[in-house]
Amino acid sequence: MNLKGRNFLTLLDYTPEEIGYLIDLASQLKKDKKAGVDQKDLRGKNVALIFEKTSTRTRCAFEVAAADLGIHPVYLDPSSSQIGKKESIADTARVLGRMFDGIEYRGFGQEIVETLAKYAGVPVWNGLTNEYHPTQILADFMTIKEHFGRLKGINFVYMGDARYNMGNSLMIGCAKMGLNFTACAPKEYYPNEELISKCREIAKETGATLNFEEDPIKATKNADVIYTDVWVSMGEPSEVWEKRIKELMPYQVTKAIMDNAGSQCKFMHCLPSFHDLNTTIGKEIYEKYGLKEIEVTDEVFESSQSIVFDEAENRMHTIKAVMYATLVNIE
Ligand code: CP
Ligand code: NVA
Repeated sequence: MNLKGRNFLTLLDYTPEEIGYLIDLASQLKKDKKAGVDQKDLRGKNVALIFEKTSTRTRCAFEVAAADLGIHPVYLDPSSSQIGKKESIADTARVLGRMFDGIEYRGFGQEIVETLAKYAGVPVWNGLTNEYHPTQILADFMTIKEHFGRLKGINFVYMGDARYNMGNSLMIGCAKMGLNFTACAPKEYYPNEELISKCREIAKETGATLNFEEDPIKATKNADVIYTDVWVSMGEPSEVWEKRIKELMPYQVTKAIMDNAGSQCKFMHCLPSFHDLNTTIGKEIYEKYGLKEIEVTDEVFESSQSIVFDEAENRMHTIKAVMYATLVNIE
C-alpha cells in the first residue's frame, strides 16, 4: 500500500482497503507511542495547518502528531493570514506548496479544499468542511474496531442532522467499510439524493446497508453504535436553533433510546457536545429555550456506554497515520 503524495479530501476517494490500512497504521502508531518508540521519521518536513473555523481536537491532533513525527507545524488561524480576504485560494495554494510538504485545511465549502489540492502540488488534508469530515471518521472507525473487534456488520445509527459533514461522511464510511448505516431524523435532514445513490453503489460491493428511518425507536433497536453531533454546525446562523430544536428534539439521545438499543450499544459523538450548562452556547440555549441538554443527555454522555473520549484520543493517532502515509514511502 503506497499512499505517498495523495490528498485526503473525502473518503469517497479512498478504497475500503486503503481506509482499513490507515486505521491499522493508526493502531500501530498508537501502540508504538505508548511503548515509547521514537517516531520522528519525518524530521525536516513542514506542514501548514489552515483553520478558517475554530477547533480543539483537530488542531491539537495535527500539532501533536506532527511533533511526534518530527514535523514542524505552522498554524494559520481564522484571522491572521491573507487567505480568502487578500489572496485567492489558488494563489495561497501555490505559495504554501513552495514552502510546505503538506497542508491541512479546515473551513467552509468542499470546493475550497479541492482548489487548494489542485494548485498546491503537495498533499492536502481536509480537517473539516461543510460537506465532509473524513479524518473524524477514521478515528471513529478505529474506536469502533477497538471496542467491537470489527467494522463489518456493525449496526450504526446516526441521529440528528444527517445532511451535514458528519452525517455525510459517516454514511460514506459505513458504505465503504460494510457497516449497516441508519440515518434517524426527519426526512429533510437526510443526506442529499446524489450522495445516497453514490453510497448505495459502494454498498453493493461491500455488503453495507443504508437505511433512513424517522422513528427513533425503530431505528435504534439492536444498534451497536448510536452517534450524534451538534444540531447547529459551525458557520450556520444562530437563528436556525429554534427550528432545529423543534424538529430534532425527538432525536435527542436519551437513556430510553440507549436502553431500546441494548446493553451492547456504545454512544459516540465527534465533540464538542452540548450535554450540560457548562458552555456559553449551552447557557444561551437554556436561557432562550429552557433546555439543559441538547443533542444528548448528560446521563448518556457520562455513562459507561459512552466512548467519546477514546474517540477524541484516536483523532491524534489517525491524523498521524494520514500524514505519515501521504508524506513518505512506507516500506
Ligand atoms: N471533532 C472535531 O473536529 O473537534 P474540533 O472542532 O475541536 O476540532
Ligand atoms: N457538524 C459539526 C462538527 C464539528 C466537529 C460542525 O461542523 O460544527
